[in-house]
Amino acid sequence: MTATSPVVLVAGGSSGIGAGVVRRLHGDGYRVLATYHRHPERAEALVQALDPDGRRLAFVPSDLADPAGPGALVDEAVERFGRLDGVVHCAATIDTTPLDELTSEAFERVLRTNVTAAFLLLRAAATRTTMSSAVVISSIAATYTGPDSAAYEASKAALSMLTRSLADHYAPRVRINAIAPGAVETERSLAAEGFPRAMLQRRIPLGRLAEPADIAATAAFLLSPDSAYLTGQAITVDGGLSLKLT
Ligand SMILES: NC(=O)c1ccc[n+]([C@@H]2O[C@H](COP(=O)([O-])OP(=O)(O)OC[C@H]3O[C@@H](n4cnc5c(N)ncnc54)[C@H](OP(=O)(O)O)[C@@H]3O)[C@@H](O)[C@H]2O)c1
Repeated sequence: MTATSPVVLVAGGSSGIGAGVVRRLHGDGYRVLATYHRHPERAEALVQALDPDGRRLAFVPSDLADPAGPGALVDEAVERFGRLDGVVHCAATIDTTPLDELTSEAFERVLRTNVTAAFLLLRAAATRTTMSSAVVISSIAATYTGPDSAAYEASKAALSMLTRSLADHYAPRVRINAIAPGAVETERSLAAEGFPRAMLQRRIPLGRLAEPADIAATAAFLLSPDSAYLTGQAITVDGGLSLKLT
């Protein structure tokens, strides 16, 4: 099974939702190449927990804000595992500097990491490999605003349209879809000062925040043949939270 099982690249697999995606896809039998940026220790802990021999899971460092990063990653996946069948783009950055003080460089860095990297990664994978399905992690922030998050929100809205454009361009060979999570319990969100967990829990119709595994389950579906007739869509996975934001 190992030598022939499909290969997936998870960009931003060391923390939060990306780590949940790595766990799920590894458990489903994929061979996984994932990336970390600032947290090699989290990547190493995942390898030790899931695949200490490194037969079906490897992490490599990557700064996706560097335009050379995405293409190099695709080449690395093919070199290491011989093929590439799917991509999940989880990596993202957020800058919550007060809006009136946000510099153009900071704004552009968010767009470069969240949007340009997704474009370069999906294009490289679609043109250089036999990838058949890709998933980008967007956010309900593509539609709803929060304080001092304009660059992040603009990047997530751009990802939705990028998903549609690339899905059209690379069909029928490659399907490309997005997931728009609501509030997810991750290391980052739980550590954020003033994170309104109790308020969110009361507000979410399904009565709890998402676990990374909830988002990973949708990613697994979108990579699988069960979603063979879905492309260019953004699926909201938010426990109904966005039903209440109008
Ligand atoms: N958490 C939520 O409530 C929520 C809600 C909606 C959407 N989302 C979206 O879900 C995705 C994952 O979010 P998360 O909350 O799980 O975030 P997270 O825990 O902060 O993880 C982000 C991942 O991206 C990597 N990363 C950050 N900057 C990078 C860069 N410049 N180059 C390469 N990799 C980089 C991080 O690597 P290191 O950890 O190694 O630095 C990490 O693996 C993001 O697209 C986010 O916008 C999250």
